[in-house]
Amino acid sequence: MFLKNCWYVAAWDHELSGGFLTRTILGDPVVLFRSRAGAPVALEDRCCHRHMPLSEGRLAGDTVQCGYHGLTFAFDGACVGIPGQTAIPPDARVKSYPIVERYRWVWIWKGDPALADAALIPDYHWNDDPDWVSYGDVYYVEGDYRLLIDNLMDLSHIQFLHASTLGAGTDMNAAISVERDDENVTVSRWVLDTPPAPIYAEALNTNGHVDRWQNITFTPPSHVVIDAGSAIAGTGAPQGDRSQGVETYSNHTLTPETDQSTHYFWHHARNFRMDDDALTDRLRQMFSSALQEDVVAIGAQQRAMNRRPDAPEIDINSDNCSIQTRRLLESRITAETALL
Ligand code: FES
Ligand SMILES: [Fe+2]
Repeated sequence: MFLKNCWYVAAWDHELSGGFLTRTILGDPVVLFRSRAGAPVALEDRCCHRHMPLSEGRLAGDTVQCGYHGLTFAFDGACVGIPGQTAIPPDARVKSYPIVERYRWVWIWKGDPALADAALIPDYHWNDDPDWVSYGDVYYVEGDYRLLIDNLMDLSHIQFLHASTLGAGTDMNAAISVERDDENVTVSRWVLDTPPAPIYAEALNTNGHVDRWQNITFTPPSHVVIDAGSAIAGTGAPQGDRSQGVETYSNHTLTPETDQSTHYFWHHARNFRMDDDALTDRLRQMFSSALQEDVVAIGAQQRAMNRRPDAPEIDINSDNCSIQTRRLLESRITAETALL
């Protein structure tokens, strides 16, 4: 159920500022830290001698020393020291995972290391681009990462699950278009010549009508970018001219911990009133509260599914986006599995 040959976010950059961070990723325990030079490192969190987690040991220069019998490991995973003996068995090593720091996130590759190409990291530049102000977090979710993808691809839930946080001003009756190719699923919703939502009225300093958009892009395995904004009506936003508009990006990436738990990384960025810290606090609070509603809902959904795994479910029209997404993800997993 996991795509292996791809990048997942393992941590926020700042989470690696103080010693070992342990996180289970795609079912495997991983210990993350920085070298003395500041480069991120990811090792299997299990000593090859007697299974002690390496995170129970210590950093010794640019090696990790197991806290049980003192074996030391270089950052490529090779054992480089065994107390009391000079010979090092050829199998004395732990897994070292390719890791790259980009867009304030630390990305890990759990598949074939020979295929780990940093150019394949999806674009989340909004998270560290000086033309945008961005903030975000990571949440732990007791649910299958695919339930979260469903959630993000079908925003019809906003007016119900997020009625008190995001619900107001969201016109979910507007027609949407769904497109799927080999790389992405995109969902687009445009509402033309409509009164602005309060945040956009404030940002554009007008109560006049706007053209409002919301474009959601899913990229396997679990990356969802939501481009939303508004521009003064009739100024060309649908044709690509956003010069009279304001934009936000609500971006998400889901890293499976197990088949029933997920590390949910997100950030939200905007390109207007960037110095307005009070607005930043307000938006951060609003998005945090809303996403916590998703976290709670997905946990409840997973528990209910576990109680009756064979219970039937029905589909409704708004499931189309998430069904297309599941199909793309499944086709990728099937293709990768066939190669293994
Ligand atoms: S378990 Fe790590 S050195 Fe023995
Ligand atoms: Fe939601």
